[in-house]
Amino acid sequence: MASIEGLPQSSQRRKVIAGVAAISSFLILPMAFASSTRPTSIGRERMDIERFVEDCIAANNESDSQAGVKEVLKRAVSTPNAVINALGEPKRAGLNVLLSSPTLTIFAATWTPQMNLMPHNHLMWANIGIYTGREDNILWKRSSDGIKAYGAEALFAKDAAALPNNAIHSVTNPLLRFTGGIHIYGGDFFNTHRSQWNPESLKEEPSDGDVIRGIFQRENKRLGLDSQG
Ligand SMILES: [Fe+2]
Repeated sequence: MASIEGLPQSSQRRKVIAGVAAISSFLILPMAFASSTRPTSIGRERMDIERFVEDCIAANNESDSQAGVKEVLKRAVSTPNAVINALGEPKRAGLNVLLSSPTLTIFAATWTPQMNLMPHNHLMWANIGIYTGREDNILWKRSSDGIKAYGAEALFAKDAAALPNNAIHSVTNPLLRFTGGIHIYGGDFFNTHRSQWNPESLKEEPSDGDVIRGIFQRENKRLGLDSQG
């Protein structure tokens, strides 16, 4: 695992803060950084989100960017209560975008109880760190007639996993409560045209940020939740 050396200078820190503000349009279902409506805190520890984003940006500049960023992510989710106190307890399906840039995308994703996400690719490396609940991944690979499942990995709180550039996975929250994770991608996740596969026919279909947004909105509607957060 690569080590993380140094942090951005103060000017870079300001850029990060400005960048976080600039991507507010990507917030599908905002879970404010500091919300007065956040439920009861668990302990006193609280993740410093701005510092976390800065550390990820610095690690992304290392020679092994994915390993470096995964190390930052692993450290963050090792104290899941601190993440919950900063991001809030998940209450609906949503993506809380912390950074959206050409070389790095970071968001917190929350899955409703027993939510499923069809097979999809990213076309860039991905790191997933769970801070509450559980996320089951089925791993797929292309085959002569589409895609074929070949592996699985169950991620619990404090776990961090790495997916390579060519990964195809589907995701399930098997629990009767919400799951929350921090997802980090080595590229511009929301502006990359990717693929997803119909969960029954396994027919390949186009996917992008709007498609993902629609999936989350439908999930909240299915459960009778307010889709506007
Ligand atoms: Fe994914």
